[in-house]
Amino acid sequence: MKKTSTIFLLLLCMGCAQTASTSQEPAASESAAQTTMPATSVPARSSDPEMDRFITDLMAKMSLDEKIGQLNLVSVGFDVTGPIVSENVDENIKRGNVGGVFNTYTPIAVRKLQELAVNSSRHKIPLIFGYDVIHGHRTIFPIPLGLSASWDLQAIERSARIAAEEATADGLNWVFSPMVDIARDARWGRIAEGAGEDPFLGSRIAEAMVQGYQLDNMKDPNTVMACVKHFALYGAAEAGRDYGTVDMSMQRMFNEFMPPYKAALDAGAGSVMTSFNEINGVPATGNRWLMTELLREQWGFDGFVVTDYTAINEMIAHGVGNESEVAALALKAGVDMDMVGELFLKELKANVERGTVTEEEINTACRRVLEAKYKLGLFEDPFRYINEERGKTAMLTKEHREAAREIARKSMVLLKNDKNTLPLKSSGSIALIGPLARNQRDLIGNWSGAGDWKQAVSVEQGIRNVMGNKVKINYAKGANLTDDAQMIRRLNAHGGELELDKRSSEAMIKEAVQAARNSDVIVAVVGESQGMSGEAASRADIGLPGQQLVLLKALKQTGKPLVIVLMNGRPLTLPWEHENANAILETWFAGTEAGNAIADVLFGSYNPSGKLTVTFPRHVGQVPIFYNAKNTGRPFNGEELNKYTSRYMDVPNEPLYPFGHGLSYTSFTYSKPKLSKASMTAGESLEVSVEVRNTGNYDGEEVVQLYVQDVVGSITRPVKELKGFQKIMLKKGESRTVTFKLTADDLKFYNNQMEYVYEPGEFKVYVGTSSSELQEAGFRLN
Ligand code: BGC
Repeated sequence: MKKTSTIFLLLLCMGCAQTASTSQEPAASESAAQTTMPATSVPARSSDPEMDRFITDLMAKMSLDEKIGQLNLVSVGFDVTGPIVSENVDENIKRGNVGGVFNTYTPIAVRKLQELAVNSSRHKIPLIFGYDVIHGHRTIFPIPLGLSASWDLQAIERSARIAAEEATADGLNWVFSPMVDIARDARWGRIAEGAGEDPFLGSRIAEAMVQGYQLDNMKDPNTVMACVKHFALYGAAEAGRDYGTVDMSMQRMFNEFMPPYKAALDAGAGSVMTSFNEINGVPATGNRWLMTELLREQWGFDGFVVTDYTAINEMIAHGVGNESEVAALALKAGVDMDMVGELFLKELKANVERGTVTEEEINTACRRVLEAKYKLGLFEDPFRYINEERGKTAMLTKEHREAAREIARKSMVLLKNDKNTLPLKSSGSIALIGPLARNQRDLIGNWSGAGDWKQAVSVEQGIRNVMGNKVKINYAKGANLTDDAQMIRRLNAHGGELELDKRSSEAMIKEAVQAARNSDVIVAVVGESQGMSGEAASRADIGLPGQQLVLLKALKQTGKPLVIVLMNGRPLTLPWEHENANAILETWFAGTEAGNAIADVLFGSYNPSGKLTVTFPRHVGQVPIFYNAKNTGRPFNGEELNKYTSRYMDVPNEPLYPFGHGLSYTSFTYSKPKLSKASMTAGESLEVSVEVRNTGNYDGEEVVQLYVQDVVGSITRPVKELKGFQKIMLKKGESRTVTFKLTADDLKFYNNQMEYVYEPGEFKVYVGTSSSELQEAGFRLN
């Protein structure tokens, strides 16, 4: 007996319809076919009749040009985040040709543009002000991949809350976050911006961020509207190259990639950003199945959709039409706002005149944009987010910095710690080596928005702050971050600020080795520069760049204990480092308070508790590698000479560090999981409990992880899937019973007919400290 959601039967039909039409017709006729489809009208239909009335009245006075103007989002001000920038912005605002602005902040700059809109445009419609507030605004938190490694939803929500407080104090009311793209390919630079590879954890984090940004009231001048991105599947680019093609089965799409978008929308996110990739052969930005049938008709989303940067124009290169056709395609797909490309502005009116777009379709998009402004309270007071006083007092406060330090500590993952090398002793001498040891620029990461790297605490400074004169620091840079002239040029062209030491690498290494010889322990702070991950920053070789590995090998030769502190925006391949270092601490790019937080962890005033949310491969050739994979018909069974099994000839199948891995200065033991019953029927619930004991010498936090495997399915099922986690604090010697509840709903998936079902049968339950250290139990679903 299967439970079927009728909604998803519908979904199947729509998915099929689209696939059929795209496979049978050439691209050009696809766009032609779409332009003749009936428009989805969004008349006043919200649960707020006052808003509906207000907007209906306003729109009755607006010309077609003015309505199209509301659909135009321009970039001007302090940041350039895409290939072109907007021109004639002041003039366009006065003419009513602009609905929103991004990359402008500070109360003064925002006020100037808002005044233009409300004093000089015909209908005095306020502008919406957006920005890429990704992991903090002025106070910068760890990059999102690092935040996710905290597995601490309250901490993550708090980081979004503080970001919203600072962003609104800078005149902003809309943030291009959360980025919820599931990513399994470490080559893709934007893996840094998301919550990793798992849809369950990614969904919980998406909800926490939306809540932190919006609270339950978008009119509050301390809240911002969230924008969920990049809808959809942007993290699945082929070969990990940014902006690349995406192609996957509907089952993978809905079981593994869609959940976080849906979770963010169910949490109330007010807007959605399209992605650059195609889905089922149709670019997301022109994909009516995605933006209307799925997003609005099935998921019930009632906010507005903005494109990614010039994504409408880019559909020309995708090969689905010319300027006029792609503008029509996007509008008809359900896009409401055109980011920077200005093709709506340029082409929609002519499309209406030709009859390829209806005025009704433009009304629909315009209404949605105006509704967003209404929900933000901008019609009541266009200046409600502009408060010069808050602009001066709300930024980088002591409280925000303390939170940044606390959250940064929680994000760090202890990958290895042989014989308790860490924490370090609070006396003696340290050879502090590496291109990131004194660095400030890279600590705030790549999407650091309005963050000022000069405010960031370096590792060297952090150690001094925490330890004072108790430890002696012998510093040497040891190596540049990279020696690749082409990469250096590219990084510096986009704000890399890469500081290069002109000495030969031999001379730098010699100095570092000398510093190591004079010290009790080596702390090597190595990794990537911030610009090596993030947008348009894919790498094919994901090892430590430049001469850094050569440096580490030379340091190892000294025989001194070697602690590696990593900074990076993606999983790196670290086989030598794992074999040879005594301890490895992954710190990502930990933000404004990075150095203090790292020192807290190194010297033991904080016991690390982070766990990986992405798999670290041994070798780039294993990519994509992720824990919730499917089994093969010929799984490798450890038999060395059995040829016909699924494995590599040259590297093991297993990753270097699995999803969920992360050590602590203390140790935890787990009892076998106990189930409250051996079988359950739908409608019932089952409890899984496990006793966790802190058996080491420190108080510490542990992320207790619960995975489930559906042993036999109508389609093949992953070897395990995360279904729950709890982060608990245990004092040394303390133990606690941790209980998880499972219901049949937790066991649902999309089957081959795209029905969302659970299937009776045998299930395995695994509980433990990482996805590869688990104890097993089982039950039946009747
Ligand atoms: C990125 C988005 C970002 C937008 C605006 C695009 O290039 O893909 O993530 O929000 O620019 O800066």
